[in-house]
Amino acid sequence: MTAVIETIADLRAACDEARGAGRRVGLVPTMGYLHAGHRSLIRAARETTDFVVVTIFVNPLQFAPGEDLDRYPRDLEGDVRACEEEGADVVFAAPVAEMYPKPPKTRVSVADLTADLCGRARPTHFDGVTTVVAKLLSIVGPCTAFFGRKDAQQLAVVRRMVDDLSMPVDVVGCPLVREADGLALSSRNAYLSHDQREAATVLFESLRAAADAVAGGERDAATVAEMLRGSIAARDGVEIDYAEVRDAAEMTTLDRIEGEVLLAVAARLGETRLIDNVRLTVRGDTVTADLGTGFRPDGRE
Ligand code: PAF
Repeated sequence: MTAVIETIADLRAACDEARGAGRRVGLVPTMGYLHAGHRSLIRAARETTDFVVVTIFVNPLQFAPGEDLDRYPRDLEGDVRACEEEGADVVFAAPVAEMYPKPPKTRVSVADLTADLCGRARPTHFDGVTTVVAKLLSIVGPCTAFFGRKDAQQLAVVRRMVDDLSMPVDVVGCPLVREADGLALSSRNAYLSHDQREAATVLFESLRAAADAVAGGERDAATVAEMLRGSIAARDGVEIDYAEVRDAAEMTTLDRIEGEVLLAVAARLGETRLIDNVRLTVRGDTVTADLGTGFRPDGRE
């Protein structure tokens, strides 16, 4: 049975009790409207920890004025059901007034890593993310926290915060989960019209073609970034925000593709902004691509 907890004090008490009984606490932070990607995080937490806390909080700090805070999809009942099915011990569903009883004056901010890519279009976003994640880590005190690799920049930023501040938690990045046709799962996919949903497949198609080019021997980062931009731009109704080839840990630009490399894209379909990525491990002639899970490998034309 999954307990639904709405106050910080009750959540702390539940986690203290679990730790007191020698159980390892796992944290899965989410903004709710859970899909198969979130479920895979809960399963990963279930496999490696003994007391799984899923937090469901649409965090106002990470939305700028004019973004989709008010219309962000919410379904607490469905989320609790999903958490129960996946064996979570606790759902933490605090109202905004519980998390931020007064406007917070403190921000946790990771420099540089947050300035580019999604940070360019959303300059206050990552400070909101790191502030709420730091707060959740401080409330829950998990030994392990689980994040999706779809938000690759977020994962790098959270890892850096934890490292810089010596926070006593292991951060685990879990595989990106896709629809059968390759579209990365996202709560924001719910915003897409039928035509936009069809057009959105161009993101993964482009990433896959670029990964194939690297596997075929292309090592010039600018050429691969240009390939990505060209194929996304060719799809009607899809407006590129960025299509980049970056160092996977530091998010810095690269000349040559070698080591841990991120092919990362963001695009707008109408009002909806989607992101996607493929991570490559390139060692000499050997290229391994982390394409994610869930899609039909033969789904390409
Ligand atoms: O990835 C998300 O859903 C959010 O950014 C997170 C990590 C739950 C913080 O609000």
